[in-house]
Amino acid sequence: MVNGQADQAAPGLDEAEALRLDAAEPGHRHLFHVPPADGGRYPESAYLAGNSLGLQPRATRDELLADLDAWSRLGVEGHLAAERPWLPYHELLTAPAARLVGALPTETVVMNSLTVNLHLLMVSFYRPEGERTRIVIEDTAFPSDSYAVRSQARFHGLDPDATVVRLAPRPGEDTLRTEDVTGYLAAEGHTVALVLLGGVNYLTGELMDIPAITAAGRAAGAVVGWDLAHAAGNVPLSLHDWDVDFAAWCSYKYLNSGPGALAGVFVHERHHGNPTLPRFEGWWSTAADTRFEMTPVSRPPATVEAWQISNPPIFAMGPVRTSLELFDSVGMSALRARSLRLTGYLERLLDEVTANRPLTVITPREPRRRGCQLSVRLGEGSAAELTTRLRHEHGVIADAREPDVIRFAPVPLYSTYHDCWRVADALAATVSEVSR
Ligand SMILES: Cc1ncc(COP(=O)(O)O)c(C=O)c1O
Repeated sequence: MVNGQADQAAPGLDEAEALRLDAAEPGHRHLFHVPPADGGRYPESAYLAGNSLGLQPRATRDELLADLDAWSRLGVEGHLAAERPWLPYHELLTAPAARLVGALPTETVVMNSLTVNLHLLMVSFYRPEGERTRIVIEDTAFPSDSYAVRSQARFHGLDPDATVVRLAPRPGEDTLRTEDVTGYLAAEGHTVALVLLGGVNYLTGELMDIPAITAAGRAAGAVVGWDLAHAAGNVPLSLHDWDVDFAAWCSYKYLNSGPGALAGVFVHERHHGNPTLPRFEGWWSTAADTRFEMTPVSRPPATVEAWQISNPPIFAMGPVRTSLELFDSVGMSALRARSLRLTGYLERLLDEVTANRPLTVITPREPRRRGCQLSVRLGEGSAAELTTRLRHEHGVIADAREPDVIRFAPVPLYSTYHDCWRVADALAATVSEVSR
């Protein structure tokens, strides 16, 4: 399937059009470090892997160095005397994180990493009882979520195979329909303790109908939580208004805060201060003004901060703060508007390239059912091999998910129309046409 020709513009794909579109709508690429290309005709890579790891904002390094300088100058005094004092440092992240996910500031906190947060939230919100024990996930849930919920079932003495329900698309379909989920909840909801789905599916790029599924789950008496790893910073969210029970997301994908960056948590205010909810605690769970009373019993605040445990890593918070400031300055609605244009453009080019090649876009075609990512399934050959060739022969960085999916994410902050054109051009040059 793979032909040997690289570096040849495919007929029918108009590079000049891409350049014109970029000139008319420059975006924010200048605010980021774009990795140099590993091959091909252009000095910079066409970076389409922001759904996996976002690029580094240019502002991050200096901001991080300033925090490091405070430590070298002030030692322990930095907790109170640093320009951004470390004791309340996490509060700098709270309001912008809340704006990003459509929450009240009291409902959002940045802490730990994603799967750790999902576990801490399940300590509170997965309470199997009687016949209501099931956890509903999607069949293509990210493996970490699958392992997490299975281990939670075992933790409660339950059989994970019987407890975890994996909802799969209908035969012949690639993505879940909303009614596949709401239908299950209407029929079996009395057995469901927790619904935990990806807001945007990591594999297919499908954006779930979060409000409709949340409403259906809650109507069935279940708790509804969301893994927003691929949704935060990608699509507009209104977690508070959608009545979501809890959510967690990482900051290393669309939030550009660096590998393994700190994660975010949302807990709806209706759960705050509820003394019957179990929670794991540490000294950061107690209210800030009681933290140094050194008493043996905590007095947690009636906010999401009660879910914190440890004092936060300041040098890991810096990049998240810098990134959230960027989101605040550009604004999620402007980003979404650009995202719809960029992804729509990439889809149009992919339609042209995939028409006579063993490639199929599996992401929903309706813009309201996706974020910026488009996933392409290979009919033959290896996805890993193809991404390697795209990178080394064309400087196009995308990622493969075995066995047969390649993901392309034009990220509205730093991707360009020309990046999208390079994807289509590289696929056309790398994957041979077939007669259909
Ligand atoms: C949807 C989803 N959930 C969970 C994870 C795991 O996150 P972490 O390793 O930060 O816990 C990832 C990582 O890519 C992910 O995409």
